[in-house]
Amino acid sequence: MGDASEVFRYLKIQQELYGDTIYVASDKKKKYIAENEVNDDHPLLDYFTQIQDCQKCELGKSRTSFVFGVGNPNADIVFVGEAPGKDEDLQGIPFVGRAGKLLDKILLAIQLTRDDIYILNVLKCRPPNNRDPLPSEVELCETYLKRQLEIIQPKLIVCLGRVSGKTLLRLDLPLGKMRENVYSYNGIDTIVTYHPAALLRNSNFKKPTWDDFQKIRDHYLTGS
Ligand code: URA
Repeated sequence: MGDASEVFRYLKIQQELYGDTIYVASDKKKKYIAENEVNDDHPLLDYFTQIQDCQKCELGKSRTSFVFGVGNPNADIVFVGEAPGKDEDLQGIPFVGRAGKLLDKILLAIQLTRDDIYILNVLKCRPPNNRDPLPSEVELCETYLKRQLEIIQPKLIVCLGRVSGKTLLRLDLPLGKMRENVYSYNGIDTIVTYHPAALLRNSNFKKPTWDDFQKIRDHYLTGS
């Protein structure tokens, strides 16, 4: 933990989450360090320990895991999904189910692995039966996403699916339209593409997704 403003921010979040009780959570922290290979004092880890027991919305009651995010905390590229599904809720790691396995294959096709990227979701907890996130849940959870992106400071953000694009870019457009441009999210170039789960449902999305991932690779390598 760093200077006074960070301590103040920490205490403010703790108070918002738990009132005046202070909790210390070390086991989840150890698990997080192991999975993310981060130093004990990485600010992302600090942030994880601050918010991991969140109960700001009803999803806190039904979840198995608070799915914070995983990958390289110093990555230049961050992928933002929608919300954990059943597998992610059980394992506490984003994109480990069928959609995640497909995403790994697509990443490999552009010579990227999970070690090169950081991956996280708009919602940190699984909505029951994988229903769409409620606007109120997105509003409450978005603070976490914003702070994570502030800490990681990637050069490129890839939104996987409409919920992610809509949340970060405040765009209410069909996905086919959203993917036509490179946007700026707080000065960070941002591209929207299909969610891998959409590809599993409809193979017509494969070709445009492949086009997008080539654009993503070029942008990642050249910065434009
Ligand atoms: N879909 C998502 O949006 N995120 C996950 O972590 C898994 C499936």
